[in-house]
Amino acid sequence: MLADVADLLTCPQCGSEAGSPLTLEGRTLHCPRGHSFDLARQGYVNLLTHAAPANADTADMVAARDRFLSSGAYAPIRDELARRVGTVRTVLEVGAGTGYYLAGCLGPATAAGGRGLALDISPAAARRAARAHPRIGAVVADTWAGLPVRSGSVDVLLAVFAPRNPAEFARVLAPQGRVLVALPLPDHLAELRAELGLLDIEADKESRLLAQFAGHLQPAGHVDVRFELTLSAPAAQDLVAMGPNAFHGRKRDSGADDVEAGPRTVTVAVRIRAFTRS
Ligand SMILES: C[S@@+](CC[C@H](N)C(=O)[O-])C[C@H]1O[C@@H](n2cnc3c(N)ncnc32)[C@H](O)[C@@H]1O
Repeated sequence: MLADVADLLTCPQCGSEAGSPLTLEGRTLHCPRGHSFDLARQGYVNLLTHAAPANADTADMVAARDRFLSSGAYAPIRDELARRVGTVRTVLEVGAGTGYYLAGCLGPATAAGGRGLALDISPAAARRAARAHPRIGAVVADTWAGLPVRSGSVDVLLAVFAPRNPAEFARVLAPQGRVLVALPLPDHLAELRAELGLLDIEADKESRLLAQFAGHLQPAGHVDVRFELTLSAPAAQDLVAMGPNAFHGRKRDSGADDVEAGPRTVTVAVRIRAFTRS
């Protein structure tokens, strides 16, 4: 619920570092300077200071992602993230989508445990993430515009196939905190890319990530998650439809409808990179 994470939030109208905390009264967040933000009926709050941009995931994309992830197809990625998160008080996921990975890192809903803040630029994603776990609060926010989150308040920050803002990640991280970034390796879903004529993953994706973080956070090791996945045609269609981020830049005009009938086996190859403040 948003009440679990409200003390982490800052007013986007006052600037993320302005030290204007938000407090929840009833179903409205208030800042001391008089700005206020109402919770949506579904429990999330929109802290965007501009309209959601065209690249925000749509309700159809979020539904496809939800179907795909709920099948357990990427559970090994979620389980490895959960192992790396361990037991901490506060986990933030940026570009959280449906909240699948964040929920997996918070442990059973019925037991005591940490709380999770799910940020995403897509209202449809925030709506879904708000329901992913009882101790998740969901907020619509733009990672690139600055995080509406108190400095030094986050134990673990997750960015799973999502946009990154290393300067802001460093600001919101607690002194002993960690950032975990998941990114696709070059052979991730190579078979499906070949079937649909989709562009390869850039070979320099990881060196660009390291360059982006340099000067903000220190690399602190990595682990690869690799496995073979048998995908039915509907699951492959969902995997395509939940893009376009995973599949941006097509060699030819292909989409979920071009997936051939019957099952196929694909490689899942994802690197989880850790970063710390020092
Ligand atoms: C490829 S999806 C990954 C979602 C989730 N982490 C997962 O793996 O299931 C990327 C997510 O980032 C969100 N996103 C895109 N641009 C963003 C931005 N500038 N700020 C915050 N979220 C953004 C999209 O709406 C989408 O939910």
